[in-house]
Amino acid sequence: MTGVEGLRANSSWFTLEKKPFRILGGSIHYFRVPSAYWEDRLMKMKACGLNTLTTYVPWNLHEPQQGVFDFKNQLDLEAYLRLAGRLGLWVILRPGPYICAEWDLGGLPSWLLRDPNMRLRTTYSGFTDAVNSFFDQLITKVAPLQYSKGGPIIAVQVENEYGSYAKDEAYMPFIKEALLSRGITELLLTSDNKAGLKAGGVKGALETINFQDLDPEDFSYLNAIQPFKPQMVMEYWSGWFDVWGGRHHIYSPEVMMSVVAKLFEMGVSINFYMFHGGTNFGFMNGALAVDLPAPKPMITSYDYDAPLSEAGDYTTKYHLLRNFFSQYQSKFQPLPDLPALQKRRAYQPVIIEQRLSLWEALPFTDKFQAFRPVNMENLPVNNDNGQLYGYTLYETTISSGGVLNSKNNIRDRALVFVDKEYVGFINDEAQKLVIPNVTEERSLSLLVENCGRVNYGKTLNNQRKGIVGDIEFNELPLRGFIIHSLDMNPGFINRLEGSGSWISMRQQTSFPAFFKGRMYLNRNPKDTFIRLPVWKKGVVFINGQNLGRYWSIGPQQTLYVPGPWLKIGENQIMVFEERETDGKIEFTTTPEYGMTVDVQ
Ligand code: GLA
Repeated sequence: MTGVEGLRANSSWFTLEKKPFRILGGSIHYFRVPSAYWEDRLMKMKACGLNTLTTYVPWNLHEPQQGVFDFKNQLDLEAYLRLAGRLGLWVILRPGPYICAEWDLGGLPSWLLRDPNMRLRTTYSGFTDAVNSFFDQLITKVAPLQYSKGGPIIAVQVENEYGSYAKDEAYMPFIKEALLSRGITELLLTSDNKAGLKAGGVKGALETINFQDLDPEDFSYLNAIQPFKPQMVMEYWSGWFDVWGGRHHIYSPEVMMSVVAKLFEMGVSINFYMFHGGTNFGFMNGALAVDLPAPKPMITSYDYDAPLSEAGDYTTKYHLLRNFFSQYQSKFQPLPDLPALQKRRAYQPVIIEQRLSLWEALPFTDKFQAFRPVNMENLPVNNDNGQLYGYTLYETTISSGGVLNSKNNIRDRALVFVDKEYVGFINDEAQKLVIPNVTEERSLSLLVENCGRVNYGKTLNNQRKGIVGDIEFNELPLRGFIIHSLDMNPGFINRLEGSGSWISMRQQTSFPAFFKGRMYLNRNPKDTFIRLPVWKKGVVFINGQNLGRYWSIGPQQTLYVPGPWLKIGENQIMVFEERETDGKIEFTTTPEYGMTVDVQ
């Protein structure tokens, strides 16, 4: 593979190995697909006629604590890139450090927000120092996988849609230099929507455009900014993402094909964002900034109505694309056969056996005292990197009834309890809550959920979670808190599992609570989807893996369970539920994404 010449953009056509080349790319994020299925999904992409894989890199997962890096197992980026190479796919790497992607804080680690002066995506030294230290690790790993070294990486993207943020002119040159100085030698690209093109470029990198509706004028505009260069849609949105409480977006396959055909005629290179969306497992979803203070958190599925579905099924879009590309690719070689689908099972319902109230789980959390509320990122947990995701419980005392006022300092929503009895909730719309009269000292507890940090827009520096300032009771700021961090990470779930306080489902207990059941499999586990028609809101863990949030408001009604995360024998299912249950976990072979709405 070496010895010739990688991707070049020296005329109106890309060349690769000195021959004209059209990038037919697709985005599949290794962090949204169980590693056991990477090969399956990439082979399906290859069989569709695509020649290039594009992927982002989520800094927040790779550096969960400042200076502690993780590139193993599900995060083994090098293995993923090598696999792509082995399957005959080229790679365009999009290392961020900011990636947007409907991912918590656009992929930036939340510990950056411990610094009260943080200015994300600028040359503020608190940010650039952290980027440098991450890139020292990341780029050292990927540089040997570049084309010139015999690897599949033919291009690297500098940042992501910086033109829509554009807070610091020195920032893009800094990121470019951070890549070059660590040995990136392949073609550099930037990626922006039309409005961001002017401000998003950086000298020495090819500008590419992102859109869904094809407007030929976009290309005249791009051409004017950057004449005599190859044209590429880095993100042609094959569908769209969904938010809780909204509808499931769909995008017509026929419209998609007409756009693809036109782009072909125009000689434009394409990358499908997404080719296969996958899942926001865990607490990794981002949120859509509408008008602050009301961001809308993204759902757990990232199906995206993409050509390959969340669980890796072929869709109409897939087949249409494959037909289209087979005509084009057949000039070179016939497309590989369609890989077989993964088998699916609608397992027998699991009946919950035991429950444990939230209050009984508190001994398993990190706990400490504070005079004033402390936001999640500044809690002294996680080796002083703060709590990253999940729930935080704030407890104090009151000795009368009155009005609790969040002053909009609760991010994002809180369930409120007096002496462990649920009395109501607070969110960005309902900022005040009447607390019933009490005559003696009572505990007031607020269980605050971080629903996901905004991933796009100008409010990134404003994404601290938990209680972020004073909250008032009868117009006086509350003081004297005990704070419990409920990040629900695998260590916590394991410890909780072993608690002696689990009680039988026959005994009454309060909500929120954890629920435990077992699933026995005597044959090879298959993919399945969980349905919880009676449950209201919470999180599901299988064998310690966080499958993500469910919420009865939809649109999504099922949670994807990858077969490789189940095992033969006993599987432990644990559910954290805030409000209600019928003690039954159902399984289905068919995902339900809820009422649809056309993207257009
Ligand atoms: C932009 C971003 C992507 C993603 C899409 C919407 O183009 O670059 O990361 O957020 O929007 O899905």
